[in-house]
Amino acid sequence: MTEHLKMDKVQPRLLDETGQGVISTPMPRPEGPLKVSGRATYAAEWKAENMAQGFMVRAGIPKGSYKIDADSVKDMPGFLGVYSDHMVRNSAQGTMNTNPVQLEHEIQYLGQPIAVVVAETFEQARHIAESLKVDYTRDDDVAGDFDAVTDWKEGSSQDQGDLDDAIAKAAFAVDSTYTTPPHNSAAMEPHAALASWDGDKVTVRASLQMLGYNRNEIADSLGIDAANVRLLSPYVGGGFGSKLGIDPASVSAAVASRHLGRPVRVVLHRNNVFEMINLRTQTRQRVRLAADSNGKMTAVGHENWQTNLPDEPFAEPVDTATHFLYGGENRRYGQYTAVLNRSASGSVRAPGEAVGMLALENAVDELAEVAGIDPVEFRLRNIPDTHPENGNAYSSRSLAQCLEEGAEKFGWSQRKSPKERREGEWFIGMGVASAARTNILMESKARVTLNPDGTALVETDMTDIGTGTYAILGQIAAEMLGLPTDKVTVELGDTDLPTASGSGGSWGASSSGSSVFLGAKAIRAKIADRLGCSPEELRLQDGVATGGNNRRPLTELLEGPISEEGHIEPGDQDVAQAGFGAHFAEVAVNSVTGEVRVRRMLASMAAGRILNAKTAQSQVWGGQIWGIGSALTEEIQHDRRTGHIVNNDLAEYHVPVNLDVPDLQVHFVDERDDYANPIQSKGIGELGLSGAGAAVTNAIYNACGVRVYDYPATPDKIF
Ligand code: MOS
Repeated sequence: MTEHLKMDKVQPRLLDETGQGVISTPMPRPEGPLKVSGRATYAAEWKAENMAQGFMVRAGIPKGSYKIDADSVKDMPGFLGVYSDHMVRNSAQGTMNTNPVQLEHEIQYLGQPIAVVVAETFEQARHIAESLKVDYTRDDDVAGDFDAVTDWKEGSSQDQGDLDDAIAKAAFAVDSTYTTPPHNSAAMEPHAALASWDGDKVTVRASLQMLGYNRNEIADSLGIDAANVRLLSPYVGGGFGSKLGIDPASVSAAVASRHLGRPVRVVLHRNNVFEMINLRTQTRQRVRLAADSNGKMTAVGHENWQTNLPDEPFAEPVDTATHFLYGGENRRYGQYTAVLNRSASGSVRAPGEAVGMLALENAVDELAEVAGIDPVEFRLRNIPDTHPENGNAYSSRSLAQCLEEGAEKFGWSQRKSPKERREGEWFIGMGVASAARTNILMESKARVTLNPDGTALVETDMTDIGTGTYAILGQIAAEMLGLPTDKVTVELGDTDLPTASGSGGSWGASSSGSSVFLGAKAIRAKIADRLGCSPEELRLQDGVATGGNNRRPLTELLEGPISEEGHIEPGDQDVAQAGFGAHFAEVAVNSVTGEVRVRRMLASMAAGRILNAKTAQSQVWGGQIWGIGSALTEEIQHDRRTGHIVNNDLAEYHVPVNLDVPDLQVHFVDERDDYANPIQSKGIGELGLSGAGAAVTNAIYNACGVRVYDYPATPDKIF
């Protein structure tokens, strides 16, 4: 039986009624000990009998065509094959439409995958790949420089009222252009795959975020039925969008394995990951804002310029939060795209808000400054009653509480004017930024089984990409079934199990959690029936069911295991749904060198019900840290002539390290969202990043009076 729910109306709050108190507790992740002791097996660590090893071959020119000369290496020790006609682009679009996987017949960027070499050992494969002769026909008409683009194509645009007129008549206005560099997801675990065939069925152990979707992509790229593909990703060492779609390792391993009739493993090395996996686009953003003499916003304009490869459908939704965060009658949005010979642009954590809010939230700070209003107060004044474009109500929105409680906890009242607070050669300043990230529900299924011995099993092909899925799904089942969490086993990451939402867009915990909730709810209904009470009366605790005047242990009540499937689907709702929050940062800026040190940060977040206070806090920490990185250090550097990624490793692509990360505080504002899903939670992971970097750059301004328009705010841009 399946308990199916299409989420188009408000649902009753069954989780609260169970009274177990398991939900929301800061439960440690059950798989943690496996991970820290090396017993959790990641994609590159699987071995198979008679396994061959592949090594990717990258394009050595930025544009043109190629021919592989396999004869040039076929006599080298260990050589098994070169496969070059199934190279696919990492297709992480972040959309759930099944995008046809694109075969690469021509070279469009330097470092593109053009072949895989397979040999007996990894070292042999690497040696052969490096010796392989490739005949290139080079096209010299290469576009590698964002700043040199002139032929921008107008994409989506939207107008409401008259932006120019509103700005002309406004008491206060800003017109600022910000630029953000390309970002890499920089997941700790590189993409890897081990493929093996059994007749016409292929099993691929890979590192992927959305197995149901990825299975279709793999089937599509191999020209086989999805029913013949099994994907396994029980542990994923970070994704951040880079594993939403399949990658060259998974496809090339499957292709080579089919041909050779033996298992093949392909592991991308770090430079491959930087070049062959999608980046976040570089952006230019023009933000125009206006306010009346009371500091009430009257106009909001946000235009963006970005690039991708030819035929890539993905565009970074830069202005997402700008549509619903602040009021103002007059609005304009525009998107302009161009083609560059650079690695594909795709989803990188919080696509849209992550970079859009770096610009928007600095421009709002500028407007508050010219209006002479405290930036927290300014934001509070401009929270609209309803969605400023379609008039929809917000499903839940605690932005004001986030700003107010955050300001209080952070000590915002101690903030001074630029250059007013000084410690030796350091200027000290504080900054704030709103956080906002659209909330999404995705279709998801899970099977829940309750055994007479008081243990339970949750099964779904959901992934845990480091986010806490194992813990959270176990907590939901435990809450509903009245079991201690250590009696619940959670099996994830196998497409043989019911198809889940996958992990992406911060929908994972809510969507897959709702399916577990529904499966457990169906079990409760069955038990209530056997006990002779209504589901509402039923109490399940410590393996005993009580309801009405009856009380029976599960061992008696259950003749065998009860298995039920939960199935959640988004419905039609006329509400605006997003998580909200406020980021605060205190920085020290060196008056001699321009060096910036973040001293402390506080994130005040409202994301509906918090499902696990510990993993949610970790998600927000990650967002704050990425905020520091996007504000101060992270930047893919492309060679302007060739589009070559100059800093294609973690030594040169600077993510914040321990010494860059100060005391990070996280405060959750109490909230439930009745429209979001039956467990009333909203996404938290990407919310933690959206706005975080702007709090840092706003703090830089407050410290030293310098506003940086070109991210990241490296010392050379400050003094
Ligand atoms: Mo996220 S960038 O949707 O994994």
